[in-house]
Amino acid sequence: MTVRFSLNGESVAIDTDPTVTLLDWLRETRGLKGTKEGCNEGDCGACTVMVTDEGGARALNACILFLPQLHGKAVRTVEGLSGPNGAQHPVQSQMIEKHGSQCGFCTPGFVVSMAVGHLNGRADHDDVLAGNLCRCTGYAPIVRAAEAAAKEPVPDWVKDAPLEVEPLGFAPETADDLAAWYEAHPGGTLIAGATDVGLWVTKDLRDLGEVAFLNRCRDLQQIDVSDSAIRIGAGVTMADLMPLLRERFPSYAEMVRRYGSEQVRQAATIGGNIANGSPIGDNPPALIALGAKLHLRKGSERREMPIEDFFIDYGKQDRAPGEFVEAVTIPASAPHLRCYKISKRFDQDISAVCGCFNVSIEDGIVREARIAFGGMAGIPKRAAHVEAALVDQPWTEETVRSAMKEMGKDFTPLTDMRASDAYRLMAAENLLVRYFRDLTGGDVSVLEVTP
Ligand SMILES: Cc1cc2nc3c(=O)[nH]c(=O)nc-3n(C[C@H](O)[C@H](O)[C@H](O)COP(=O)(O)OP(=O)(O)OC[C@H]3O[C@@H](n4cnc5c(N)ncnc54)[C@H](O)[C@@H]3O)c2cc1C
Ligand code: FES
Ligand code: FES
Repeated sequence: MTVRFSLNGESVAIDTDPTVTLLDWLRETRGLKGTKEGCNEGDCGACTVMVTDEGGARALNACILFLPQLHGKAVRTVEGLSGPNGAQHPVQSQMIEKHGSQCGFCTPGFVVSMAVGHLNGRADHDDVLAGNLCRCTGYAPIVRAAEAAAKEPVPDWVKDAPLEVEPLGFAPETADDLAAWYEAHPGGTLIAGATDVGLWVTKDLRDLGEVAFLNRCRDLQQIDVSDSAIRIGAGVTMADLMPLLRERFPSYAEMVRRYGSEQVRQAATIGGNIANGSPIGDNPPALIALGAKLHLRKGSERREMPIEDFFIDYGKQDRAPGEFVEAVTIPASAPHLRCYKISKRFDQDISAVCGCFNVSIEDGIVREARIAFGGMAGIPKRAAHVEAALVDQPWTEETVRSAMKEMGKDFTPLTDMRASDAYRLMAAENLLVRYFRDLTGGDVSVLEVTP
C-alpha cells in the first residue's frame, strides 16, 4: 500500500509497514535529523512537525504519528521552515534575536510549533508552546520571540496544500467502509489519533497486526448541532471540539485546554478517549455529568446507551468485537456544568482526579444531580450516594457539606504516583464545595494568588 504526502514541498510515495512512525522514517530513512527524538511518547515536543490538510496547519508530534495518517497531507519539518536562498522564517530570526535557544536540542520542535502558531495567527503563546519542553533556556525569551514574530507576515513557502490521493486499503474513507472492515477483521486494531496506540508501538514494542486508520472518515468528524442536542462524531479531535466547548460549555473547554498539549489535542479524538476505557480519561466524567448518549455500531447494526453504562470494570467496556464508537450526543446546553481537573502540573499532565458536576436547581431545591469522577475508581464513575444526598435538598453549603461525607461510600481510590488515596478522596470532597462556591458566585480560581 503506497502512502503519499508532500514533504517540505516535495511529493513522496512510500511503501510502508503501517506502524512506522514519521519520526523514525524522517531520521532513519530520509536522513532528516532536525526533528529530534526526546521522549518518544508525545510529551516533550522535540519531534514537532507541521501537518497541513483540508482543516489547515496543525502541530503534531512525529514520534506518535504513523505514516498512513499522513496520506494526502503536507508535512513540513524544521528543515523546510527556511525559504529560498536560506531566508529565515520570522520565528527563526526572532529566536536568534531574543536568545531563545541554549543547548538547542528542543529548538527545532519549538520553532515548528511557533511557525504553526504564527501561520494560524495565534496569540496564546503559552498554550501553543505548552507541549514543548525546554530544560535550559526558560520560556520568557521564547515567548518574546513568538510575540515579536507575530508582527511579521507569514512567508509564502510555509503555506502548504493537501494532495489529491487514491484511497488506502487500511484507511477507510467512510464510517460504512470502516464498519465493513471491522466486521470482517474483529481482531484488528483501530487507530484514530494514535496518542494512545502510538505508545503501544514506541514503548511496548507491540506488533499491532491488522490495523485500520480512522482519520480519513470525514463523516466521523462531523459535529451536528440542533436546538436540543449536539452529536459529536467519534473522529472529532479535541482541538476541533474546542470552539464548540468554548461557546457552550466554557468550564469543559477550560479543562480541555489542559488536556495533553496542543500537539496531543490536534491528534487525540473524543472516540479514542472513550473507547480506551481509561479511568483517568478527561472526557468521560464530563460526558457522564452531561448525561451523554453513546452511539455504537457493528456492521449495519447500531445501538445506543447512556455513556456511564459503557464502562463496566477496569479494562472492560460494553463493546463487542468488531463494534466501534460512532458518535456521542450531549445536550445543547448545560449552564451548571463545571469540570475540574486536578493534576500535579497545570499543562500536559494526566489528571490525578477529574471531577465534573451538573446540578439542576429549581426554587432553591436540587432537582437533579449528575456528578462523575475520573481517577477515583477503575472506571469513570458517578458519585451515586453524593447525588442522592443532594437531590430534593435545599441548595445550601450545609447540604453540600453533609453530601460530601458520602463520597467515601462511592469511591475507594488507589494510591499511585499521581496521588495518594487520602488525597484523592479529600480532593473529590472539596471539589463539591468548590462547585457550590462556583455556582453561587464565590471566588474559586486557583490560578490567582491574592494576599
Ligand atoms: C502526551 C500525552 C498526554 C495526554 N494527556 C491526556 C490528558 O490530559 N487527558 C486525557 O484524557 N488523555 C490524555 N492522553 C491520552 C490520549 O491522548 C487520549 O486518550 C486520546 O483521546 C485518545 O484518542 P486517540 O484518537 O489518540 O486514540 P487512539 O490512540 O487512536 O486509540 C485509543 C484506543 O481507542 C480505540 N479507538 C479509537 N477510536 C475508536 C473508535 N471510534 N471506536 C472504537 N475504538 C476506537 C483504539 O483502538 C485504541 O484502543 C494523553 C496522551 C499523551 C500521549
Ligand atoms: S519525542 Fe517527545 S514528543 Fe515526540
Ligand atoms: S535549549 Fe536546551 S533544552 Fe531547550
